[in-house]
Amino acid sequence: MRMKDVLSAARERLQGVCRVCPACNGKACAGEFPGMGGIRSGASFMANISALNAIHLKVRLLHEVRDTSTACTLLGLNLSMPVLIAPIGGMSYNIKDALPEGPYTNAVVAGAKAEGLIACTGDAMPEIVFTEGLRAIKEQEGYGIPFIKPWADKALFDERLERAADTGCSIVGMDIDMAATRARGGYPFAPRSAAELSAEVKKVHDRGLKFILKGILCPEDARIAEDCGCDAIVVSNHGGRILEAAPSSAEVLPSIAAAVPSMTVLADGGIRHGSDILKMLALGADGVLIGRPFVIGAVGGEAEGVRAVAARFANELHEALRLTGCASVNDANASILLR
Ligand SMILES: Cc1cc2nc3c(=O)[nH]c(=O)nc-3n(C[C@H](O)[C@H](O)[C@H](O)COP(=O)(O)O)c2cc1C
Repeated sequence: MRMKDVLSAARERLQGVCRVCPACNGKACAGEFPGMGGIRSGASFMANISALNAIHLKVRLLHEVRDTSTACTLLGLNLSMPVLIAPIGGMSYNIKDALPEGPYTNAVVAGAKAEGLIACTGDAMPEIVFTEGLRAIKEQEGYGIPFIKPWADKALFDERLERAADTGCSIVGMDIDMAATRARGGYPFAPRSAAELSAEVKKVHDRGLKFILKGILCPEDARIAEDCGCDAIVVSNHGGRILEAAPSSAEVLPSIAAAVPSMTVLADGGIRHGSDILKMLALGADGVLIGRPFVIGAVGGEAEGVRAVAARFANELHEALRLTGCASVNDANASILLR
């Protein structure tokens, strides 16, 4: 499917929810939450974009690189490029069912697999967000990463972990940054002490699964996550959807990556072009998650739309590697950045 057709179909179907802007930067949708925007003024969504835009790549043309490789291994998975589709849930209230939860999770899980990537699925209220994600992953023989919310009621974590493990998946995640979300009747989610997190990570490991903790924004928390046994962290401000004053991921990524050099560090927020993937790798990430561009792909063409978006990122990443003199994504480091 051509990107042009994906975008025009998505624009048609997302009317009143997402304008599918030429630059997806959080301006037109500021404060549209629920929706596709960032919370309040949209500042932390926009900060993700402006932090990446402020970084430039050092263009190198006098070198011997001809063939470039985007292939990598992350958390035991062989991927065609270091990209995961970010967990995104709540299609009924975020995109007014322009593509309902079931077809959405099918599109991202199957589309990612077909392109050699992997999709994460979400957890939220209503529970259909979680159950549809599990169903889609099970249909792809466990090829997907279910995310579990940091439920205040620990029994809910145990119950969801059991159901996630039943899909045959090899990795689960938790978006710890939802800890301050309020709902009718109080706070359904809660932060974790180091002892609580260690206990949950142990339960995940006892089932033979790996654990990703998403929403880390400072070196101190990254070190605690490592001490608690987490296999990976995602440096993320939840696409600008948790705190008006949260920093952008690109801004805090270098200090976090330096604090946990032997841990798998992923990052997300504002990645819109293959060169943004390379920038995040050069800032210290081992891989990235990408959210909104894949929502637009799924709405515009279901699995084929997701594949078209993935292919566009891959082409752009190859181009960026060649123009910075990197033969492989493993060659990306701070020396290719101009700041
Ligand atoms: C509509 C929407 C719903 C989201 N739902 C979830 C979710 O259920 N769980 C989660 O961990 N993150 C969720 N996120 C955050 C994404 O996983 C990711 O961190 C963010 O979208 C990355 O930024 P980007 O969209 O600029 O790529 C959501 C984001 C959006 C825009």
